[in-house]
Amino acid sequence: MKILVIGSGGREHALAWKLLQSTRVQSLVMVPENAAAIVQLQKQFVGKEIQPWQDSIRGEEALKTLAQKAKDQRIDFVVVGPDNALADGAVDIFESLGIPSFGPSKEAARLESSKIFSKKIMQEAGVPTAEGHEVYSPAEAKTVLQSLDWTKKQWVIKADGLALGKGVEICETLPQALEALTRLNQYSDSFVIEERLHGKEISWLAFCDGDNCALLAPARDYKTLTEDPLSPNTGGMGAVCPVPGVDASLAEKVRTQVFEPTLREMKKRGTPYKGILYAGLMVNKDQVWVLEFNSRFGDPEAQALLPLMQDDLLNWCEASQAGKLATRPPMVPMKPLVAVYVVAAAPGYPGQPFLGKNIQGLDMWLSQHRGFFAGVKKGPDAQWLTAGGRVLGALGLGASVAEARLNAFKNLKEISFEGMQYREGVGAEWV
Ligand code: AMP
Ligand code: GLY
Repeated sequence: MKILVIGSGGREHALAWKLLQSTRVQSLVMVPENAAAIVQLQKQFVGKEIQPWQDSIRGEEALKTLAQKAKDQRIDFVVVGPDNALADGAVDIFESLGIPSFGPSKEAARLESSKIFSKKIMQEAGVPTAEGHEVYSPAEAKTVLQSLDWTKKQWVIKADGLALGKGVEICETLPQALEALTRLNQYSDSFVIEERLHGKEISWLAFCDGDNCALLAPARDYKTLTEDPLSPNTGGMGAVCPVPGVDASLAEKVRTQVFEPTLREMKKRGTPYKGILYAGLMVNKDQVWVLEFNSRFGDPEAQALLPLMQDDLLNWCEASQAGKLATRPPMVPMKPLVAVYVVAAAPGYPGQPFLGKNIQGLDMWLSQHRGFFAGVKKGPDAQWLTAGGRVLGALGLGASVAEARLNAFKNLKEISFEGMQYREGVGAEWV
């Protein structure tokens, strides 16, 4: 089969790497280009045809052009990585040309692309979530914020719509909230305002086929830039999977209180949800609340989850797309190992990353599997240069978090570039 992976980050590198392990995949295209990932995959999967396309994936028109090219080039199956492409209707566009595609439709992807829509679905479905207010203008938001009790509770403001992970602010006081509102207004005129919850965050992802779901192992994402919880939020500086101490009863709770009611509600609305549904959860003792839904694999959660998946990823993607998850196990079989993934980011990330820095030590990473590439490009003298905020990530597997961490940091230490930022503390709470 010939597979097209849409997206060029570390998540998509991991998706391509896992898909290529399928004996059924002979040929794979990644669009747009992730040059270092392509070189690494070509070295690791000798005999398979692996190529980049340079085409744009931004916006409906670009996706339509891409879909026509995919049809002409006889692509058999599409896996869509990023939220923007899903929100732009990538799956609808490819499927309208008869190319089966993994991911939710544009309408179903609103579970991520609209915080207001997502809150409404949770409320209709009875999914546990923070008490929230939907507001449709900054003036209305201000009125609601002024009416809230700030003495005992803190509140969170969320801009409706995709905002590159910058659309949420946690506010401790009213003046702080009014300031945050002005900042968030650059993303949207509509907002969800909800109570701040406390507990431990878990990213729980499941394959969904419209009716059924199969849960992956729970993962922890490290969102802030440094160990300081008040440091800037990022796309994610690392991940650990599975989260130690999470037992089967929590999985059952998440299935019956979160995934199943959401799938029922989406189906009832005539917009069944297929693809990966990512529930961002807050867990406190044995209680679970949904903070957010994402309509795709998390980045960097995917880079920790996929290396642990036992089965052929393509089979799971096809079963989700074709509505055939009922015949598969309710928990996706995982290897009995722990994965730790540590991101190396460019200096200046997450604000204004400085790019074009020489990366040392990449040769071993290209010939052997040490991690995944996100923002690495080839310079004019064939040297490797930083080309994105999150540059690459080191993967470590082990029988325990401690062992997986050792392996991840051993791999990371082979790499260096000026101003490289990473979190020493990924997984440290379990060592
Ligand atoms: P979201 O995009 O909705 O997940 O929000 C991004 C991050 O903001 C989450 O991962 C949490 O760390 C935090 N957050 C969102 N909603 C809440 C809430 N109600 N209480 C506490 N933290 C929250
Ligand atoms: N790691 C968080 C996300 O992918 O949204």
